Amino acid sequence: MPRPLQSFTKDASVTSHKLAPGTIRRVIGFARPYRRWLVAFLGLIIVDALVGAAGPLVLRAIIDDGIAEKRTGLVLALAGLVAFLAIVSAGLGLAQRWFSSRIGEGLIFDLRTQVFDHVQTMPIGFFTRAQTGALVTRLNSDVQGAQQAFTSTLSNVVGNVVGVTATLVAMFVLSWQITLLSLVLLPLFVLPAKFVGRKLADITRERYQLNGEMGQTMTERFNVSGALLVKLFGHPEAESEAFSARAGRVRDIGVTQAMYSRVFMSSLGLLASLATAVAYGIGGVMAIGGTLGVGTVVALTAYLGQLYGPLTSLSNVQVDVMTTLVSFERVLEVLDLHPMVADAPDAVALPSGPVGVEFDAVDFRYPTASEVSLASLEGVARLDTQSLDQILHGVSLRVQPGRMLAIVGPSGAGKTTIAGLVSRLYDPTGGAVRIGGTDLREATSASIRATVGVVSQDAHLFHDTLRANLIYAKPDASDDELVQSLRSAQIWDVIDRLPDGLDTVVGDRGHRLSGGEKQRIAIARLLLKDPAIVVLDEATAHLDSASEAAVQRALGLALDGRTSIVIAHRLATVRAADEIIVVDGGQVVERGTHEQLLALDGLYASLSRTQFSDGALAGVA
Ligand SMILES: Nc1ncnc2c1ncn2[C@@H]1O[C@H](COP(=O)(O)OP(=O)(O)OP(=O)(O)O)[C@@H](O)[C@H]1O
Ligand SMILES: [Mg+2]
Repeated sequence: MPRPLQSFTKDASVTSHKLAPGTIRRVIGFARPYRRWLVAFLGLIIVDALVGAAGPLVLRAIIDDGIAEKRTGLVLALAGLVAFLAIVSAGLGLAQRWFSSRIGEGLIFDLRTQVFDHVQTMPIGFFTRAQTGALVTRLNSDVQGAQQAFTSTLSNVVGNVVGVTATLVAMFVLSWQITLLSLVLLPLFVLPAKFVGRKLADITRERYQLNGEMGQTMTERFNVSGALLVKLFGHPEAESEAFSARAGRVRDIGVTQAMYSRVFMSSLGLLASLATAVAYGIGGVMAIGGTLGVGTVVALTAYLGQLYGPLTSLSNVQVDVMTTLVSFERVLEVLDLHPMVADAPDAVALPSGPVGVEFDAVDFRYPTASEVSLASLEGVARLDTQSLDQILHGVSLRVQPGRMLAIVGPSGAGKTTIAGLVSRLYDPTGGAVRIGGTDLREATSASIRATVGVVSQDAHLFHDTLRANLIYAKPDASDDELVQSLRSAQIWDVIDRLPDGLDTVVGDRGHRLSGGEKQRIAIARLLLKDPAIVVLDEATAHLDSASEAAVQRALGLALDGRTSIVIAHRLATVRAADEIIVVDGGQVVERGTHEQLLALDGLYASLSRTQFSDGALAGVA
């Protein structure tokens, strides 16, 4: 009988938790599509509990009316009834399982898909703040826990209430004296059980925690960058020692937990046996005196055996119910998170064809954690609500359709931030960003995605084949188109030499490809997508001159005829630009062409002497 134990291993502190208003109503809302199944499921549970309670009565009839009266026919018929009830009970069990798994798995599916879809709509700020691990836990264990509200918790409560009531009624009718006497023992058990239960809940929680820490160590040390760090700087012996210390604590607490569970289960068994002894003793004496039938004594003891488990379980029922409700609440909490950047109800599509980009006195600060995320997803009790520093101050710029703007500036000046605003990763806190004259806050996200193509500082590739990574930008692209775009991106030669060609698995940080190669793959992806506007965050890492030249040629093709904003670290790029703006401390401090800016002899001139990777001599160029 694992049920009562399970209920006592749950964290009893949940009962003091205050649920958000409306939680129960919403939980019921989730069950609505399954209401027919739920009714059938509960019906089966009630019938099953009643069938279980009928068993000892049949036993009594066999002994008192059959054996004692020597009525062979009746004994055989009742034995047949016992067999029949057993078969019915097994059938009911199967049917119950079918319903509960249908309902449970259905709910898991509903919750998971809703959470996944919702998280996808979250702005990038959410992902920079929320811990992915915590989010995955939400999708896995909390969703599992939540569905138990309608499967195990509900069925336990209903089944136990019906079973215990039927059993107690039958026992009282058979002999109220013995029933009362055996119930006197109950508090003697329930109180210590509460104590052991609290202890068990603590141990279980600590065990989860320790297991989590152990898993954390493994994932951190065994991912590519972690493993590399250990190889280069690590002390394998120290790592082993730290790990075995963690694993050792998991082992020790496992033993403690096993012993506490055993004590719990043994004392529950012991109590049932003691009560049975009482029933046999008093019942036996009464049977000798003729006031009680032998069959009744047997039936009473049989009832006692099936009474204590469910009663103990019910004594902790509020913990069970709250545990599942809290899980539900944690899932709802994610679903309630409002995306900061979302389509307006009357959003329009951006105009197609060549379009320009305009920043109109744009102010920006990054959102605080409390604006984009949930405290419970970050492993901290409270999110910092303190406003972060403003990053952009009144940035204005204008790129005509088909023209190229270069942004230069020292590290941390706000260049990547400006680029992010063009694809509406964030909304500006002041001023406006417009594409083709439409404010991005009034445009549909689908049309922004289609219009703006981005090649970022550190291009990401999914852990999948090259083909899959490329057609992500254009799902209906043919292999010919893929090859064409790879050719244009000056990377086809490299791919063609790979034994698996387009089927080579890349990603997992693209470890098989160099930085320059990865960037050219990203350019190929951009060419496939064929956007009207290109935003390019040039890699700061120095490339060797061969791949440098290849990237340069690829870029020439990628940018040709498109409106482009390029964060430039190379002289060759800035020279190709129609206009250059120099950003410092989130402000545009200089603007003009390369020659004009050199003549100004300000920040640009000094940057071009130190920062351009291909132009140490830029100052004299
Ligand atoms: N997600 C973020 N949350 C809070 N602050 C941020 C975030 N991203 C960047 N910042 C801050 O904004 C400022 C501008 O960063 P940004 O990435 O735009 O600089 P950058 O000009 O692109 O620099 P680099 O040349 O090194 O790439 C920096 O001070 C940075 O610390
Ligand atoms: Mg940057």
